[in-house]
Amino acid sequence: MRPEDAEAVERLTALAYDTDRSDDWRRRWCDRVRHLLTTDPGGCWVADDAGYGPTGEAGPVIGVAISLRRDLLWILSAYAVHPRHQGQGIGTALLDAAVGYGAGCLRGMLTARPDPQALRRYRRAGFTLYPTMRLTGVVDRSALPAVDSVRAGTTADADLVDSVDRRVRGATHRPDQAFVQEHSTLLVCDLLTGSGYAYVADWGVTQLAATNRAVAQRLLWEALARTAPGSPTDVRNLTSDQEWAVDVGLAAGLRVEQDAYLALRHMRPPAPYVPSTAFG
Ligand SMILES: CC(C)(COP(=O)(O)OP(=O)(O)OC[C@H]1O[C@@H](n2cnc3c(N)ncnc32)[C@H](O)[C@@H]1OP(=O)(O)O)[C@@H](O)C(=O)NCCC(=O)NCCS
Repeated sequence: MRPEDAEAVERLTALAYDTDRSDDWRRRWCDRVRHLLTTDPGGCWVADDAGYGPTGEAGPVIGVAISLRRDLLWILSAYAVHPRHQGQGIGTALLDAAVGYGAGCLRGMLTARPDPQALRRYRRAGFTLYPTMRLTGVVDRSALPAVDSVRAGTTADADLVDSVDRRVRGATHRPDQAFVQEHSTLLVCDLLTGSGYAYVADWGVTQLAATNRAVAQRLLWEALARTAPGSPTDVRNLTSDQEWAVDVGLAAGLRVEQDAYLALRHMRPPAPYVPSTAFG
């Protein structure tokens, strides 16, 4: 993949995922592609139609697989083939290239859409599929408790975030921290009994990790309190290991819906943890 493929990759995934993205969302998506192309150029692959023409130029992008390595954890961030070109082996070739980038990483993680062909590919690549729930709806502000010891984070909290990530999921998000903080608010909690962090964006709580459930619940309550009053919010990718989150969500007036799958290789679902859809 080259940086100039970012827009084509965004369009292709919107089509294959059947998702209508707002202009803002599109821009963020393209920025993320370029970010991952900088941190993990060897993990980003495209398939182009008809290969190279007589002038040696690449054809239109018809498939993509974007993966990243964080410590010894391999993560798949995007995976799609144009609907007209599916079922011809392109997806398998792309996933093989992306998985090859993770050679030497023992563990793997991805948030899967409920696409039968994708799930088939993931299982065949050795991933265990864990069904996930999503908390969704408008937060009942009258249910919000007073939460202390949670504060807005800064770049000075990078080491705290790293140590919680290492403890909870065995790998940091260090190269992605600055990028994620451009699009969301970091909250941190650092007590004698445990620590944790969460990211809140306009559309929901996008990532959370803590060294114990009590800290995770505090962070989730504070994150929900900081969502825009009256607007729908989302907490996604919750396996049944995250009942601490389901309990907070229900108490906050959100409803539980079926989400999709968390796919993991050589690891159990980290907990307490809300996985990031793009960064694992
Ligand atoms: C998931 C996805 C990327 C797979 O891509 P794909 O190109 O359709 O996948 P493949 O063609 O490699 O595999 C599909 C089948 O094609 C067939 N196939 C493989 N190689 C082939 C070849 N050389 N010639 C003809 N058929 C072939 C096989 O039957 C294969 O199934 P099997 O190997 O499991 O028996 C694609 O279906 C997709 O974009 N889905 C929607 C987007 C989505 O949800 N993505 C996942 C996000 S988490």
